[in-house]
Amino acid sequence: MARIEIEGGVPLNGSVAVSGAKNAVLPILMASLLTDAPCRLKNVPHLKDVTTTIELLAQMGAEVGLADQFTIELDTAGVAHQEAPYDLVKTMRASVLVLGPLLGRFGKARVSLPGGCAIGARPVDQHLRGLAALGADVYVDAGYIVAEADRLHGANIVLDTATVTGTENIMMAAVTASGVTRIENAAQEPEVVDLADCLNSMGAQIEGAGSNTIVVHGGKPLSGYDFTVLPDRIEAGTFLVGAAMTGGHITTRRSNPRTLDAVLQKLEQAGAEINTGEDWIELDMHGCRPQAVDVTTAPYPGFPTDMQAQFTALNAIAEGTGVVRETVFENRFMHVLELQRLGADIRLEGNAVVIRGQPKLTGAPLMATDLRASAGLVLAGLVAEGTTVIDRVYHIDRGYENIEEKLGQLGARIRRYAARAA
Ligand code: UD1
Repeated sequence: MARIEIEGGVPLNGSVAVSGAKNAVLPILMASLLTDAPCRLKNVPHLKDVTTTIELLAQMGAEVGLADQFTIELDTAGVAHQEAPYDLVKTMRASVLVLGPLLGRFGKARVSLPGGCAIGARPVDQHLRGLAALGADVYVDAGYIVAEADRLHGANIVLDTATVTGTENIMMAAVTASGVTRIENAAQEPEVVDLADCLNSMGAQIEGAGSNTIVVHGGKPLSGYDFTVLPDRIEAGTFLVGAAMTGGHITTRRSNPRTLDAVLQKLEQAGAEINTGEDWIELDMHGCRPQAVDVTTAPYPGFPTDMQAQFTALNAIAEGTGVVRETVFENRFMHVLELQRLGADIRLEGNAVVIRGQPKLTGAPLMATDLRASAGLVLAGLVAEGTTVIDRVYHIDRGYENIEEKLGQLGARIRRYAARAA
């Protein structure tokens, strides 16, 4: 299996370009299923989850090609199989995002139930409840979610939790429904807004995306899209935390500071000087060690759960004691045991961890367990004395484009080793 080796102790310095947002690319690629007209998506990052999505669409009969390195062209006119099979869904839960568009365009969809997940139960009940409210017959058959409808109609849907992919699934189905759909307690994440912008560019009429009430005037004819995806706020945030942990000074280019308010405020509390422009963020630690910060994850605009592992790592080498509380997912502290192997002083208390910052961490072999946990381990490796080797790098590749190359540009001593022959 491929692994990443890091020689810690070098402050991050310089500038780095941020890629397109994974969590916007995936639903927007799936949205191509809503139309038989060609679509084109720009600023697409090279990620395992993107490859999986392309594979999924191609298996259904879509034609997918590259116009250039970062631009994908899709034509779903020939889609003949409205199914997401288990072998793909089990590697990427976001495959469930085909449910809404397939149901909307073809009146039927079969998607394997995702099954267990490394970061808690993660049910999809809200997706199913929403689609049922729009008039679909939704049931489980042989491990597959089946949704069927002759026609969908608008509805008032109040979500129990502000689920991101659930909001997206319902929004995509609702653009094909007759009449008006109101989604209340909707997710407000910037990626939901990006999807709504893209759907509106196709002819949909969606209002309120970015607030907790989204109104969809359904049944409008939908054309293809030619759309550029927004920058990845989690990738940008990860580099900034890396700079804060190493006492560095970096600028993230092609990044959107307005989507990172909660994270930038915590970095300022940790002692960073932050300057921002329209599409860049500069962080300067002036060579200092960070101060510990308390963090509680929450749906947007709260502090993102996808930055939790990185701030746990930051607290591990900070001055003082920080408490990190996870309220979005259960069981999202797999990185804690691995950070302890580097010498971190972390105590798990229910859905929180109490971290007493140490003056130094020491490199060790580590195992990546899930996407964001892995990012925390990489950041810890940047400060740990000696060599940190991270195994199971495929978790990182699901969401970070060439992480070793980009951190290398910032001066980190980091290398990837290809899988050893069996
Ligand atoms: C998305 C993101 C992921 C991020 C998460 C939270 C994508 C592709 N992934 O995941 O990176 O960590 O948002 O910001 O966009 N829930 C239910 N019932 C449901 C759906 C969700 O109870 O039907 C619960 C989940 O178990 C979880 C919470 O709601 O506790 C939030 O999950 P959700 O927003 O759905 O996460 P994802 O959309 O899967």
